[in-house]
Amino acid sequence: MNEITLLDREFSVYLTEDEIQSRVTALAEKISEDLKGQDVLFFGILNGVFLFAADIIRQISLNAHISFIKLASYDGTSSTGKIKELIGWNEDITGKTVVVLEDIVDTGSTLERVIGELKLRKAADIKICTLLFKPEAYTKDIPIDYIGFEIPNSFVVGYGLDYDGYGRNLKAIYKLTK
Ligand code: XMP
Ligand code: MG
Repeated sequence: MNEITLLDREFSVYLTEDEIQSRVTALAEKISEDLKGQDVLFFGILNGVFLFAADIIRQISLNAHISFIKLASYDGTSSTGKIKELIGWNEDITGKTVVVLEDIVDTGSTLERVIGELKLRKAADIKICTLLFKPEAYTKDIPIDYIGFEIPNSFVVGYGLDYDGYGRNLKAIYKLTK
């Protein structure tokens, strides 16, 4: 299945299931090594992160909690820049080591908003782990600790990422074809 159609758009495979899974394993090993001996709260940003979070957390060998918040800044295929409300903060993060899990960092607005909130709530140490990163679109200077893949500035779907709600269940990641 190299080419797919979702609604009115065509996409072609960009990262295969195997490529994603071996990168997820490598990230899990690196995080487990770097944070050895610590009690860590993994903090996923829904909806897009649900598959990445499920896959990485099962390969983390640390005492770990996992929690999620939800927000959305994206409509269709272009970032609106509008950050909606953050919902689901029900974890006490004071003094904790937090690893933020993101499916994709695009402009970085979502990340900035979440990091600001984590600092206000007095997390002791904040690390950021994203499966995908678009360096050309990134407008912030928050350093990202763990990156699965740097990708070009084009729209992607699959493995949790959606086009108008569709495509989240795909095992590979697909890129919009012009
Ligand atoms: P920002 O611009 O705040 O965007 O870094 C991050 C959020 O926007 C969504 N996003 C995408 N979703 N394909 C998608 O399906 C993409 O190419 C894409 N780029 C950004 C995503 O929800 C992310 O958390
Ligand atoms: Mg997301």
